[in-house]
Amino acid sequence: MGYPTCLLVPLFLFVHASASLLPLTTYNESTCSESFNCGSVDIKYPFYLSNATGRNQEDYTTYSCGYTDLKIFCHGDGDTKTPILRLGEANYTIQNIFYDNRSMTLVDTDALSGKCPLVRHNVTMDPEWLNYTDSLDSLKFFFGCAPRPDVEDHQIDCKGFSPPAGSGNGVSFVFTSEEDKLSRENLLAEHCNKIVLVPVHEDGLMRSGSVRLPLDYGAVVKEGFELAWKQSTQQPCHACEQSSGRCAYGESKEYLGCVCSGGKIGVPDCYNSGNSRTGSTASASNVIMLDLI
Ligand SMILES: *[C@@H]1O[C@H](CO)[C@@H](O)[C@H](O)[C@H]1NC(C)=O
Ligand SMILES: *[C@@H]1O[C@H](CO)[C@@H](O)[C@H](O)[C@H]1NC(C)=O
Ligand SMILES: *[C@@H]1O[C@H](CO)[C@@H](O)[C@H](O)[C@H]1NC(C)=O
Ligand SMILES: *[C@@H]1O[C@H](CO)[C@@H](O)[C@H](O)[C@H]1NC(C)=O
Ligand SMILES: *[C@@H]1O[C@H](CO)[C@@H](O)[C@H](O)[C@H]1NC(C)=O
Ligand SMILES: *[C@@H]1O[C@H](CO)[C@@H](O)[C@H](O)[C@H]1NC(C)=O
Repeated sequence: MGYPTCLLVPLFLFVHASASLLPLTTYNESTCSESFNCGSVDIKYPFYLSNATGRNQEDYTTYSCGYTDLKIFCHGDGDTKTPILRLGEANYTIQNIFYDNRSMTLVDTDALSGKCPLVRHNVTMDPEWLNYTDSLDSLKFFFGCAPRPDVEDHQIDCKGFSPPAGSGNGVSFVFTSEEDKLSRENLLAEHCNKIVLVPVHEDGLMRSGSVRLPLDYGAVVKEGFELAWKQSTQQPCHACEQSSGRCAYGESKEYLGCVCSGGKIGVPDCYNSGNSRTGSTASASNVIMLDLI
């Protein structure tokens, strides 16, 4: 083992320096399991579990059998297991995944605890992979504001509610997107320390007109919102999926290879996955050659 390692180290360093990843030539079948239950949610491609990542034998970088941004952290034990998706710096609890129409419902994990939940973050996501669906509606929260009699009917008076750190100890308000609020809102923004836009499902807000804000804001937030993921339309991932393969991606969202059944890598797809292992050395050195040029 010592001999090849000595030879290869300089090449790996070079490849890292040029920031290009080597394609997969083998994969660990146990890191690419078909599906996994986390609580009541079935996790399968293009999602993957956070602990289901492998090391590329070519350059020791991490790969996953799924879309980089769809990494699921399965928290808790037994029946209390819950799938968590991280978007930006916030955690979101996934309530449901609909593989047929490529969408999911999720809710800010912070908002699930307590009667007077607090959402601290705007949602951030990579539009290359994720987007809202047509069911999107939103609530706008204003934290740490000077008291304002003219919008008192929007003030959050939930017992036990405390504004987020850093927003001072003023009062807080919530508005729906429907409300005619522009002028009042702009006025408000100048007198508040923090604004958070919280996506919600339109059904949560509409529910037979029985939702009363700001009183019921917690219930609306807890119903969560919908996101859709985009099926890859770019080659070579698209061809891989068309051939019932799963696309493996690196941590930097780079496509690494087509994972096929039976421990095979498809080049470029699972219709052509027979001789992947023997072809590995050749394809790896091809990439290095290209980098050198
Ligand atoms: C494959 O992954 C499993 C679980 O992570 C690990 O125990 C096993 O050693 C891996 N096999 C190889 C050949 O790396
Ligand atoms: C990954 O996490 C799941 C859920 O927590 C667990 O059941 C599974 O055994 C873990 N797999 C590995 C390889 O650690
Ligand atoms: C998200 O969950 C992880 C645990 O998996 C925790 O360490 C982290 O602090 C959480 N992030 C936020 C912003 O709550
Ligand atoms: C996807 O299907 C589920 C279940 O049928 C449905 O509740 C959800 O609204 C659909 N989402 C989209 C974006 O079509
Ligand atoms: C996101 O979805 C909305 C409809 O819900 C659509 O209008 C918009 O173009 C989509 N954005 C991207 C980047 O695909
Ligand atoms: C959240 O987004 C809104 C609207 O884009 C912005 O005004 C606000 O400052 C953002 N809040 C945070 C905490 O980034």
